[in-house]
Amino acid sequence: IVDIKGGPNEGLDRLGQNLVVRGWVRTIRMQSSVTFIEINDGSCLSNMQCVVSSDAQGYDQVDAGFISTGASICVQGTVVSSQGSKQKIELKVEKIMTVGKSDSSFPIQKKRVSREFLRTKAHLRPRTNTFGAVARVRNALAYATHKFFQANGFVWISSPIITASDCEGAGEQFCVTTLIPTTEEATGSRADKIPKTEEGLIDWSQDFFGKPAFLTVSGQLNAETYATALSDVYTFGPTFRAENSNTTRHLAEFWMIEPELAFADLNDDMACATAYLQYVVRYILENCKEDMDFFNTWIEKGILDRLNNVAEKDFVQLTYTDAVNILLKADKKFEFPVKWGCDLQSEHERFITEEAFGGCPVIIRDYPKACILLGTAALWDIKAFYMRLNDDGKTVAAMDMLVPRVGELIGGSQREERLDYLENRLDEFNLRKESYWWYLDLRRYGSGFGLGFERLVQFATGMDNIRDAIPFPRSPGSAEF
Ligand code: 4AD
Ligand code: MG
Repeated sequence: IVDIKGGPNEGLDRLGQNLVVRGWVRTIRMQSSVTFIEINDGSCLSNMQCVVSSDAQGYDQVDAGFISTGASICVQGTVVSSQGSKQKIELKVEKIMTVGKSDSSFPIQKKRVSREFLRTKAHLRPRTNTFGAVARVRNALAYATHKFFQANGFVWISSPIITASDCEGAGEQFCVTTLIPTTEEATGSRADKIPKTEEGLIDWSQDFFGKPAFLTVSGQLNAETYATALSDVYTFGPTFRAENSNTTRHLAEFWMIEPELAFADLNDDMACATAYLQYVVRYILENCKEDMDFFNTWIEKGILDRLNNVAEKDFVQLTYTDAVNILLKADKKFEFPVKWGCDLQSEHERFITEEAFGGCPVIIRDYPKACILLGTAALWDIKAFYMRLNDDGKTVAAMDMLVPRVGELIGGSQREERLDYLENRLDEFNLRKESYWWYLDLRRYGSGFGLGFERLVQFATGMDNIRDAIPFPRSPGSAEF
């Protein structure tokens, strides 16, 4: 039994071998004397063309119409050179067996179908070329992530999914509940266990065995505790945000890579983020050639040139103040007007990386700690409480890495190590010090960043919508599969 991988196009060394191949039927063409069945086993993008004549054992199953697009089959045959122009070898089938039948109702037929439609068929979409390729490249990016950090002496830490603290202080947490009554008046023993407020309503905030608990928005604070014991560490796991954002860049559940560097400042952090991105991009260019060529042809023309540039060239670095000046001088009307102190919107971020710097990744640093609320004089905190205040008292040692099409790929900062400053910031954010006592215990000098893994997959494959960069997307209103 062999994988198709490397077969149809580079498999000339397999000529004459007798093989068993198993996979899922992509197409079947019945001609008068022979039937051509293209099967794919997920090991690569290419299909194996199987040529079945009526004397093959099991041919009656072809004749009976059991084998159509979507069926799973097992074939045995001899590798011969192919007359067709699409592949160098094919399998001359001696024996064919249907493992799972299919029929013409299989929803993903050969014709092109929209990505929106495929999102409603999340259980079947991995059987398409596009989603097979995205899954393999996503896997390679995950493998390369661990390779990079392990080779550089980082220790992987699993951060908890259930937590009481809100790392970003933005109140975007999902609440964890242990009991879900069908109605507020649920009766019997279950009702007694439901935590109630003084008014007798269900107290959702007290529902993790009597304590409030939420799904984590970031593993950073937990990673910091280990960085103050083991030096450089990283997390790589699922995180959750209860922001009702229906965009092509936001998910309610996404995976985040969060390295935490000990004894490091913002420059060390930016250097690490750059080296990491260049490493994983080089890794997929070298190891996922067939899939990357597919993206270059069918998903985003020119993605290979763009990624080659990312792997080789230095990234642009500029301060927030310089970025604002570039935007002010730009010959372009933005929907959100720009002035120093405004929060950069995705139209501004994309202008900087796509137009001002011709598609090169850009790292913007030293953001204002608070931003002017559009159209008012009110200030609101935009950067998180843990970011180190710069000497000017107005900006923080934070950085965002922006890339074309996706915008913000990475957000990071130098962490505030001065206890009094940190306590002040918690007050400014109205965050309860009782929930952060353990974090306050740790103060030391360090920095780190977070990278949204699906945005990386989006950037690396050219897929337009982040919902196509994760196997089962969670966004407002979608958690079916
Ligand atoms: O900028 P964010 O919110 O930063 C943090 O969470 C820090 N704790 C990171 C750190 O310093 N350790 O998120 C980091 C990255 C963003 O740059 C973006 O790539 C991704 O996470 N991200 C999302 N990806 C998909 N859907 C969402 N709703 C996302 N929110 C953030
Ligand atoms: Mg951010």
